[in-house]
Amino acid sequence: MTEQELIDAALAVRENAYCKYSSFRVGAALIDEQGRLHVGCNVENASYAQVSCAETGAIAAMIAAGGKVISTIAVVGGYDDMTACTPCGGCRQRIAEFSDDDTRLVVIDDDGEWHNYSLEELLPHSFHLD
Ligand code: THU
Repeated sequence: MTEQELIDAALAVRENAYCKYSSFRVGAALIDEQGRLHVGCNVENASYAQVSCAETGAIAAMIAAGGKVISTIAVVGGYDDMTACTPCGGCRQRIAEFSDDDTRLVVIDDDGEWHNYSLEELLPHSFHLD
C-alpha cells in the first residue's frame, strides 16, 4: 500500500467520525507489520472525558486482528476542511507502545503540506518499560 493510499484510507474513515460535541473530525489509518490496514475515527461521548481518539480506534483494531507493530500511521483531522492534526500526547504514547525504530507517522501541517515523521521526532525521550 502506498502512502497516498494510506492517507486516502484515513480520509475515508474520517467521514465516519462521531464528533457531535467538538465537530473536529479525525481519521487514522495504519499498516501493521504484516502489511494489513486498520482504521479508526474519533468517537465522542456526552460525558466528554470518555472520548476515544481516532488513533486509539485504529490501534485497537490492529490488536484485535493480531497485529503487533505499527509500520506507518496516517492521521487526518479538522473541522470541515483538514487542518494540522498531529496525534495528541496520549496517542503518541499509545503509538509508542506498538512501534519500532522504523515506525513512521504521516500528518499534514497548517500549510497543507504532508510530513513523514519518526516517532522519535514526535515523542522524544518517551517513557517505556523494558
Ligand atoms: N482527537 C483525535 O481523535 N486524535 C488526536 O490525536 C487528537 C484529538 C479527537 C478527540 C476529539 O474527539 C476531537 O479530536 C477534538 O479534540
